Amino acid sequence: MGKVSKRAASILYMKEHETLFSCPLCKAGMNVTDDGHIICGNLHSFDIAKQGYVNFMVKPATSMYSKSLFESRQEIINSGLYNPLQQTIAKHIGVEAQIILDTGCGEGSHLERICNLLKQDTVAVGIDISKEGIQSAAKFYDQRIWCVGDLSNSPYKEQSVDCILNILSPANYEEFGRLLKPNGKVIKVVPQSEYLKEIRKQAFANTEKENYSNDQTVQRFKEHFMNVSHERLTYTMPLSSYLVPKLLEMTPLGWHLQEDIRLTEITIDLDVLVGEYAR
Ligand SMILES: C[S@@+](CC[C@H](N)C(=O)[O-])C[C@H]1O[C@@H](n2cnc3c(N)ncnc32)[C@H](O)[C@@H]1O
Ligand SMILES: [Zn+2]
Repeated sequence: MGKVSKRAASILYMKEHETLFSCPLCKAGMNVTDDGHIICGNLHSFDIAKQGYVNFMVKPATSMYSKSLFESRQEIINSGLYNPLQQTIAKHIGVEAQIILDTGCGEGSHLERICNLLKQDTVAVGIDISKEGIQSAAKFYDQRIWCVGDLSNSPYKEQSVDCILNILSPANYEEFGRLLKPNGKVIKVVPQSEYLKEIRKQAFANTEKENYSNDQTVQRFKEHFMNVSHERLTYTMPLSSYLVPKLLEMTPLGWHLQEDIRLTEITIDLDVLVGEYAR
């Protein structure tokens, strides 16, 4: 039997899960056609690309993230630097969740690695406004649903998702509330004061970028969700020299740095916020 093309495999997979989709233009339900279109009852149509993702953008958007930034991000994530974070998130997702949506998923490695840690089979869905990010995700990770789209106007049905991930990305809590099943969870990851402190200390000593507080973000999360747990995850890992330029490229902190930054280790300091949406 011949090899099934990436697009054909994605068409089959998305058809299997077509009840998940809702039109980003009119909110009607959608069907996946055998020839790879996702169409709503009002005939708004979005194509499954040959790389196996769908572009649901309804107006143009610019992104400050380039293809090479996502390549660096992928290399850093797959080096294991965020393994403790992924394990923490997997623990909070629990064994019940079936449909997991990563909002602002970038190049998809966190979602992929988190789902691989779970005991159950899941439907993993990633959305990002950056086409470069989603193209990279679709290139490397099969049997997932990768969508270019705006997380504030997402192409998914109301009450369709068990768990929303939101890792170092902007959020829209009204939209998250629309998407979550009753008692569904949101897991949001925000940087804490020591996050990548080795870069901050060398590059931004005595400037406002040296310090960072996430108090307002944490407060806003607590106002929107119930039974909120708040876990701080702090660790320092050695950094191989070949990863240093990748690390500097993957974060806006590292852009346009004039200084010669020396790094042999790097600190990860993140808050993991978990909340339930109550209807
Ligand atoms: C700092 S990156 C984090 C990416 C990924 N979660 C990670 O940790 O590697 C922020 C991501 O949010 C995405 N983003 C920003 N605004 C968005 C929006 N309105 N809808 C969807 N994605 C968005 C960006 O394109 C970018 O990939
Ligand atoms: Zn429509």
